[in-house]
Amino acid sequence: MQKIRVCFVCLGNICRSPTAEAVFRHLVEAEGLAHRFEIDSAGTGAWHTGEAAHRDTRATGRARGVEVTSIARQFLAEDFDRFDYVVAMDRSNRTNLERLAGSTSRTIHLFRDFDPDSEKGSEVPDPYYDGGFDRVFDICEAAAEGFLDELRATHAL
Ligand code: 4NP
Repeated sequence: MQKIRVCFVCLGNICRSPTAEAVFRHLVEAEGLAHRFEIDSAGTGAWHTGEAAHRDTRATGRARGVEVTSIARQFLAEDFDRFDYVVAMDRSNRTNLERLAGSTSRTIHLFRDFDPDSEKGSEVPDPYYDGGFDRVFDICEAAAEGFLDELRATHAL
């Protein structure tokens, strides 16, 4: 069976999208659906390529039973062919991705739009500048659950 390929995208790929990736993978594993998914993350910027996630991102995940294992990389145009769902953490990430997609006009999802309790257009705030790693984790958990609910309906999981 064809896997559902998901890539979470933020700016640096060391805080928000690694958290989203790890939280979503954890959820999918807990639901016994890991074999149906390929899950990755990337950044629109390349500054942190090759680095592990931010130490506070990893510590926050570990404290909540979720290992954050991603190694940062930049999202490239060819990634649009590699993933069924490209999921941005904020509107600026989405704009950058739309620009990269150019005339192929791919749909770029906003992660929090999958959370039924979030207002449309809500963003995952960047904890890199002002802390808030716990809050980012909570936001990602809620959005991940909504995202999986939607995927269950769309893909009959
Ligand atoms: P992220 O946070 O996009 O959630 O990974 C950032 C990490 C690094 C930078 C910006 C945002 N930076 O400019 O280096």
